[in-house]
Amino acid sequence: MEHLQKLLLALLLVACPPAKASHAWNRMAGAGRAKAPARPYMAYLEGKNGHFCGGFLVAPSWVMTAAQCFSHKPLTVILGAHNIQRREESWQMFEVQSYHCHPDFTNPMKGNDILLLKLKGNATSNSYVRTISFQKIKASGGTVCSIAGWGHKAPTATFHEANVTIHKQRDCLTVYPGLANNLICANSGSAGVPEEGDTGGPLVCNNKAYGIFSYQYKNRIGFYTHIAPYLPWVDSIMKSA
Ligand SMILES: *[C@@H]1O[C@H](CO)[C@@H](O)[C@H](O)[C@H]1NC(C)=O
Ligand SMILES: *[C@@H]1O[C@H](CO)[C@@H](O)[C@H](O)[C@H]1NC(C)=O
Repeated sequence: MEHLQKLLLALLLVACPPAKASHAWNRMAGAGRAKAPARPYMAYLEGKNGHFCGGFLVAPSWVMTAAQCFSHKPLTVILGAHNIQRREESWQMFEVQSYHCHPDFTNPMKGNDILLLKLKGNATSNSYVRTISFQKIKASGGTVCSIAGWGHKAPTATFHEANVTIHKQRDCLTVYPGLANNLICANSGSAGVPEEGDTGGPLVCNNKAYGIFSYQYKNRIGFYTHIAPYLPWVDSIMKSA
């Protein structure tokens, strides 16, 4: 029985199916520069072959991101970063102890694009590094929220942020009729600017994490995993690992 449990656990740790994420590494346009302390929950996830993702600190040893980022593992987690080109004093770097993908994730378009990273160690809370809590209240259409990330490619990556407006679910379905469950859509307020962001970064409403950037569609609309429906799963993972 114990063997079986260990086997199951081992399977779970590598259970994320590979996902195509090529569309995900786009620059987030129409964005302004920001100082790191404004978003101390942000995590830069450095993967293999120059790939990276955004993420966010949800507990001292847990980072949340998108399941598609699993395909770039092993991931190194950098907290407290603003400029990613050279090491800053504020950085706290962690290896990942275990990867916990949502078991129903196959590809971003089908939803469930959520991944929890258990860090090897605990982050130290300070003005550069702090956890963010979850927004459980549903944001109505027209709510202005924000996104942040490091944009495009590692050598030139600079921290950016942008405001986005949440669409009514019905309007998301108009944009993308095949919309999977638990996806939110939003676009940037600046007309004509494509709203894009780092995959895995948080959609922040009222200073709380409401969604996870998953993919964009037609260069204008961003789709985000709605976190609240996954909280029972999140709790069970964080208690068990
Ligand atoms: C992290 O913090 C938890 C809770 O305080 C503690 O149980 C655990 O031992 C710590 N882990 C490390 C690696 O320090
Ligand atoms: C987002 O909106 C807030 C509040 O309206 C504003 O202060 C901030 O400058 C905006 N940020 C960007 C990047 O446009």
